[in-house]
Amino acid sequence: MSALRLFLGLGLPGAWHERLAGLEAALRPGLRSRTVWPRPGNGHVTLRFLDAVEEDRVAALGRALGGLAFAPFALGLAGAGRFPPRGAARVLWVGVEPGAAELAALAAGIDAALAPLGFGPRERPYRPHLTLCRVKADGGDAWDAVLEKIARVSWPVHGVDAFTLWRSVPGPDGPKYTALAGFGATSVWRPSGGAGAGGGAGFGATPGSPRG
Ligand code: 2AM
Repeated sequence: MSALRLFLGLGLPGAWHERLAGLEAALRPGLRSRTVWPRPGNGHVTLRFLDAVEEDRVAALGRALGGLAFAPFALGLAGAGRFPPRGAARVLWVGVEPGAAELAALAAGIDAALAPLGFGPRERPYRPHLTLCRVKADGGDAWDAVLEKIARVSWPVHGVDAFTLWRSVPGPDGPKYTALAGFGATSVWRPSGGAGAGGGAGFGATPGSPRG
């Protein structure tokens, strides 16, 4: 029985993919460090990395996640940071706001749904973020200045009404993602009706993007 490398996450609206590509074009040529950015359309917000899962467990995984109830919510991005915060940089990221609390609650719901299937606790607490790039070799760039530039980008808020199970296949040009299943929210969000989700955003996320 073979294993699939799987993760759960949110696809991004087109406007976010465009900003991600714009940031890469603006920043990468000026960096001394070697950085790896997502392939066009591959950017995503990770909810949980599942790693290698035996193929015969995927149906049960889908059933468990299909029973998860969550309400749609507004998701935005703001600020910028790096992992780890000091020393050699490994990841540059953008923070989530609004929607960080809802995203963390969804991640906790996923953990609870998967625990009976034998998926143990996470290695690290969940930190809602969008990874911009991985730093493969830190060349001593002025990261604070880089992060300030990143934090100036404005990302339109959009509505999350589903999350996606992706298969990741490593390749020479970076991983290739295939959407295996989408899991929809269990109620309808009406942003103009004062439902508390933040207002003004449409439903931009489609299960299935990242492309590529
Ligand atoms: P992140 O970049 O949002 O932190 C798919 O591989 C995603 O799973 C990655 O984008 C990464 O999310 C997350 N991930 C967490 N741990 C990982 C690991 N050990 N190897 C690969 N991906 C991991």
